[in-house]
Amino acid sequence: MRPLSRRPPPSRRAAAAPRSTASDAETRALGAGLGARLRAGDLIVLTGPLGAGKTCFVAGLAEGAGCGARVRSPSFTLINEYEGPMTFFHLDLYRLEGHDAEGLGLEERCEQGAMVAEWGEKLPAHVRADALTLTFTVASEHERTITAGADGGRGAELLAAWEAIAGAGARA
Ligand SMILES: Nc1ncnc2c1ncn2[C@@H]1O[C@H](COP(=O)(O)OP(=O)(O)OP(=O)(O)O)[C@@H](O)[C@H]1O
Ligand SMILES: [Mg+2]
Repeated sequence: MRPLSRRPPPSRRAAAAPRSTASDAETRALGAGLGARLRAGDLIVLTGPLGAGKTCFVAGLAEGAGCGARVRSPSFTLINEYEGPMTFFHLDLYRLEGHDAEGLGLEERCEQGAMVAEWGEKLPAHVRADALTLTFTVASEHERTITAGADGGRGAELLAAWEAIAGAGARA
């Protein structure tokens, strides 16, 4: 029998209640609320199908983080960089294959600014350990549902920030 200390630790996964949005403006406003709370080293993983509102949310994040740039999905470059009070990195990993993420220098970059990754579930697990994960689903033509989760560390702090923002409404 393996000694107790060798057992895997119990999952620390925590999740917030799902939050629905009724328009792209509302999704963006939620992103802006969270963007204002970001700091260098933060990672937000966005997951969900095509058209679920991930880029829309990123536009809000960038706005909230004080980056005036127009946000467009970096589909071919994989990573965009927006300047502001803090550098803001926007990844779209839809086209990422295999272990290519290892070559993006993400850990070094993440220390320089805040990072958000669409299709971020493709990132290696060790990179995502401290992330806040937001899962988007399409409920109807204009309704999206966002569910936040985190495993601990800074992700848990961002989860608390998200709960305050998403629970408070942040309607546009
Ligand atoms: N409640 C909503 N929140 C966000 N977007 C919405 C909502 N209702 C409708 N939409 C529309 O859904 C689309 C979302 O597109 P967006 O590019 O943000 O999706 P995405 O998840 O980034 O997709 P992809 O995986 O292709 O990058 C937009 O056309 C937007 O206007
Ligand atoms: Mg997108």
